[in-house]
Amino acid sequence: MNRTTKRVANSVLNRRAFKKAISVEKNGIAATDESYWSRQALLLAHSLEKGMSMPNIRAGFGENKASDLADIILSNESLDSYARSEAKSVLYSYVCYRDSSCDPLSTDLRDRLMSASAQELVSGSLPYDAGYFSRDGMDAMQLLSKRRSVRSFKSDKVSNEQMNLVGAFVASSPSACNRQPWRIRWTCDDTKIQRIDELVPGNRGFEGQIPNWAVLSCDRGMFGTGEAFQWYVNGGIALAYFVEGLYLLGMDSCIFQLPVADSCVPTLKELLGIEEGDAVIAAIGFGISDEETCGLHPAAARRDVGSIVRCV
Ligand SMILES: Cc1cc2nc3c(=O)[nH]c(=O)nc-3n(C[C@H](O)[C@H](O)[C@H](O)COP(=O)(O)O)c2cc1C
Repeated sequence: MNRTTKRVANSVLNRRAFKKAISVEKNGIAATDESYWSRQALLLAHSLEKGMSMPNIRAGFGENKASDLADIILSNESLDSYARSEAKSVLYSYVCYRDSSCDPLSTDLRDRLMSASAQELVSGSLPYDAGYFSRDGMDAMQLLSKRRSVRSFKSDKVSNEQMNLVGAFVASSPSACNRQPWRIRWTCDDTKIQRIDELVPGNRGFEGQIPNWAVLSCDRGMFGTGEAFQWYVNGGIALAYFVEGLYLLGMDSCIFQLPVADSCVPTLKELLGIEEGDAVIAAIGFGISDEETCGLHPAAARRDVGSIVRCV
């Protein structure tokens, strides 16, 4: 086969691979009852947890969500053990939170939530404490496993030097064929920060809290059509290095998802000068934690390692 014929044949095969990848993506989401109900419970629990870390909470915050979560816990057998214990623990911390506020729950609702709650916080969801914020004397294992999302920051801006150090750490992350296809665009400019605050879908309630924003993107052009979506794998790994790098340098962060078809994506790209062909992986809000606000809410718990890793 001559070169041109080979190239045409490859491009036909690659186009087929691309179409196949899209149809797998579209059709492959068959949730079992267990994963469906565990997801519903974890989304409600996460939303309550996140709400409890917001600086200005509206009166009656979370009552419907807590009540729905109690319904799921009390009436649904199809939850995995982690989702059940996390949901119960968050309900307990929600009741404690409302007890200690000047906006207490009605007795009926409180009793129902308590009947579904863990009645204590599970290990791993204890509040952020001074030990979280200090990095002193930690070894690499502790440092890498200790990072948690923070959504409340002091107004300090990050410096170019700090960002170059984090960038060097990201550059050390692995990528397919060492393509290093990622790019990070960051800003601490107040006008841009305010605009990004308005655009990012997952930061409702945290507007005005984030002093520095970054968007991590991946050059799709670095991948052939037979490698559809690999940009998200490579970008996701770099994203993990980015937030861990910030943490190593004494900063905290929160990743915010930017779903591929979200209407904010083109505007964000334009605002930050992100190349049109890039896949946007996520936005990251970061800076120095406001320890007083963060210390009020529980850290996200973790699944039991045995449910993740299994020798087969
Ligand atoms: C891909 C990705 C997208 C996320 N999107 C959001 C988001 O839109 N809003 C938000 O508040 N947190 C978001 N998070 C943060 C998660 O809620 C958080 O990582 C999770 O609850 C575990 O908590 P931890 O980071 O404190 O360990 C996201 C995290 C990842 C990895």
